[in-house]
Amino acid sequence: QTVLVLNGPNLNLLGTREPGIYGAQTLDGVRQLCEAACRQHGLALDFRQSNHEGQLVDWLQEAGAGEAGGKFAGTVLNAAAYTHTSVALRDAIKGAGVSVVELHISNVHAREEFRHHSYLSAVARGVMFGFGTAGYALAIAAVAGWATGEQK
Ligand code: DQA
Repeated sequence: QTVLVLNGPNLNLLGTREPGIYGAQTLDGVRQLCEAACRQHGLALDFRQSNHEGQLVDWLQEAGAGEAGGKFAGTVLNAAAYTHTSVALRDAIKGAGVSVVELHISNVHAREEFRHHSYLSAVARGVMFGFGTAGYALAIAAVAGWATGEQK
């Protein structure tokens, strides 16, 4: 089975974007970390990034269908700023029946007020934030637990 990891807007700039908040690792570094985590759990990785909300909606619909067909074990979603704005992403998760770990590199609750609200948390299966890019590996471990039935 495959873990789908979706990254939203501006995450292509990781490494140079506000390193005091997001760290020095590039998105390619995150992809490598995810690959290692998946390998450890005997899962394959499908890792994507888009700056476009509609593209993320399309991918979430694909995730729901893939899950139903047994291809995807679950989805790790860092929707970035769309977390705080997008009813469309929430509806896609709910409508397509996607098992999602909502992920943030930073501790969004220790930041500006507008980052405290997420449209996605209520439809996510779990939420992970504040562990830096290491959170991606932790989220993949959670998805691996869903796949084996060890984790609700
Ligand atoms: C983020 C947090 C969001 O508030 C922000 O808009 C991002 C990244 C994170 O990973 O910490 O772009 O999702």
